[in-house]
Amino acid sequence: MEKRFTMLKNKEIIVGVTGGIAAYKTVELVRGLSRRGANVHVVMTKNAMEFVTPLTFQTVSGNTVIHEMFELFTGSKIGHITLSDIADLLVIAPATANIIGKVANGIADDFLTTMVMATTVPVFFVPSMNTKMWGSPMVQANTQKLKDAGYKMMEPASGDLACGTEGKGRLPTIEEIMENIEDIFAVKDLAGERILITAGPTTEYIDPVRCITNKSSGKMGYAIAKIARRRGAEVMLITGPTALQLPRTDIPMIQVTTACDMRDAVMEHYKRATVIIKTAAVADFKCRNEACQKIKKKGDSNYLMLELEKNPDIIGELGKVKEDRILVGFAAETDNILEHAVEKLKKKNLDLIIANNVAKAGIGFGADDNEVTIIEKSGVSKEVPKMSKDEIAQTILDAVIKVIKKRKK
Ligand code: PMT
Repeated sequence: MEKRFTMLKNKEIIVGVTGGIAAYKTVELVRGLSRRGANVHVVMTKNAMEFVTPLTFQTVSGNTVIHEMFELFTGSKIGHITLSDIADLLVIAPATANIIGKVANGIADDFLTTMVMATTVPVFFVPSMNTKMWGSPMVQANTQKLKDAGYKMMEPASGDLACGTEGKGRLPTIEEIMENIEDIFAVKDLAGERILITAGPTTEYIDPVRCITNKSSGKMGYAIAKIARRRGAEVMLITGPTALQLPRTDIPMIQVTTACDMRDAVMEHYKRATVIIKTAAVADFKCRNEACQKIKKKGDSNYLMLELEKNPDIIGELGKVKEDRILVGFAAETDNILEHAVEKLKKKNLDLIIANNVAKAGIGFGADDNEVTIIEKSGVSKEVPKMSKDEIAQTILDAVIKVIKKRKK
């Protein structure tokens, strides 16, 4: 699989694995961190090796796995310098009740706990255990103790547990863990901003079972929401129908279907925003007479005439009332891309427009990547080559910060 470099590039991350059934999921975490450019060193407790072998972690991390307290690290980088000295972050996943209890009470009786005591870098616990254990007063007290001491801690997820019960205690998804790790490293340069983002398509019904929509998957808008939140902004996402998961649980999301619904939601919430980013592919037209019942084929005619009427131009309306809010539009074009984009920027009173060639294969609608031109009000433009939508989101938000800074001068 292709390597995607993020802010984890060249970061030295130690992953401590303790003895829980979720240890097998940590293999994916190590793979994911490596794929994002981090150099991962795995430290296993004795109990962890009952669930996964060190060889598995060695293979996916490409580094020697430490599992003995008194080990000779011949020929390895970690033989010469203490691992915790070179680390940028120590992640413990899964973190059992045992390790939480030991660290909370200052016990250092194996390599992992000794390293936690000795390190000055952030330590991030990802707990996973049986529901009753997680809810026990001792585990809760120890967890609180760790939080109070400045350790970072994720809440376990809820659902079916390996022991046959249901409840809180599952390891959160690898994506959620990765997002929390990216969060630890992110510069919070959007702190104080309140960003309203629209994403996805809108759907206009012809009858109860048929609709007019477009190919927007929501990926671009969701990526902007995730990265903006990661960079410290307060984010609200207004989304048309998509198959995507909410990118982060700390982003409030409003789900809408039609352009009119989206307009109402945007108009209700835009006043609180300092920045509005309109990534959504809003249907320009809706059916004039939506049928209440499924339209039947009638007679011998090969044609069905649909009468369409214009939907509200949400961004146009915002352009008139935005005051000093920063308004960012997207332009999905198939020809004369820059010309059309600049026209929209001026006509709709935008501060930035992101021009998208939606006729090009591998980018735009539905793709994981995009390639855009960011055009400022002054006419200055920046071509952003093909990269992941997360990376494009970073660049768009950099451009937003540039506008904010200019305004403050
Ligand atoms: O969702 P993905 O699969 O990741 O794809 C991303 C994308 C291609 C949808 C996205 O990058 C993009 O280009 N979004 C804009 C799509 C669009 O509707 O472009 P437009 O040129 O028709 O509209 C221009 C701007 O006006 C957009 O900001 C749009 O949100 C807004 N608009 C459009 C029509 C309307 N009635 N009201 C609006 O507010």
